[in-house]
Amino acid sequence: MLEKAPTLMTAKQAPRHFLDIADLDAKTLRNIIDNAHAMKRAGKRVPHELRPKGVEDAVLVLIFEKPSTRTRVSFDVAMRQLGGGALTLNHTDLQLGRGESVADTARVLSRYADGIMIRANAHATLAELAQHATIPVINGLTEKSHPCQVMADIQTFEEHLGPITGRTVAWVGDGNNVAVSWMHAAVRFGFTLKLACPKELYPDPEVIEWVRREKGKVEIGTDPKEAVAGADCVVTDTWVSMGQSDADKRKTMLAPYAVDAELMSKANKNAVFMHCLPAYRGHEVSEDVLEGPQSVIFDEAENRLHAQKAILAWCLGG
Ligand code: CP
Ligand code: NVA
Repeated sequence: MLEKAPTLMTAKQAPRHFLDIADLDAKTLRNIIDNAHAMKRAGKRVPHELRPKGVEDAVLVLIFEKPSTRTRVSFDVAMRQLGGGALTLNHTDLQLGRGESVADTARVLSRYADGIMIRANAHATLAELAQHATIPVINGLTEKSHPCQVMADIQTFEEHLGPITGRTVAWVGDGNNVAVSWMHAAVRFGFTLKLACPKELYPDPEVIEWVRREKGKVEIGTDPKEAVAGADCVVTDTWVSMGQSDADKRKTMLAPYAVDAELMSKANKNAVFMHCLPAYRGHEVSEDVLEGPQSVIFDEAENRLHAQKAILAWCLGG
């Protein structure tokens, strides 16, 4: 007789999702970053001690509802370097694109694969997928947050300037999804984050309230010079994120928030400049800053690979 297939009710440990930096405790996040540094040192051949049982041969499904260069390629290569594989799907390739429910998609994919990474239009889709999947789900960007990017950025900061705890990071521009993950990180890694954004583009009030409850060192104002003064790192991002339609209005509001050499000169002497990319030269950042000696943008892009190998080892090795 055939053995009964396992069902959702099988007593199994809850999957280790990576949905937001805020969801994980400081010790777990510190371990992931330490492993990200170790992954980078190890290079393509990930040693066994960094590759827990369950990671080798694992298959990750990547779902994209929005375009991507870095997230798409770095997750695929990360899985190969860990000894597994990845399957990249545009959501319109799936029945999801024709109305199959997120819950059913989650349950079906959980029977084939070992993990799901999704870049979703709506954070609610990510949450629903995680609620119904019995395998780990990873946030590859939503309109609300971009945690994998900021884990790579923490790694990059530490490579250039040492431990991030107790240091100061300035965010200048739109209070967007990447800014929110920086706010989560400021609380969990214990650094000061000073944001300068137009009032209309302040980060989600719920996140501001969460930071207050967590007693995080996050200051929000409207003056870029004030935010950058004494900072170890200056970060910005595009003025128009994917899915936003009010481009002209945003460009006008954000023009005073462009990061140029004069603004960078207000930061600490050895401060680094970060941008998750893609960048729009002459808009949120000047060409000379983006290409200048303080810019670490391509280290950030590379570190997506290493940080995600560490995230995947944590998720899939659980
Ligand atoms: N920074 C980032 O997430 O880039 P992609 O949109 O190319 O994945
Ligand atoms: N804030 C940007 C980040 C792109 C990686 C966006 O959501 O489009």
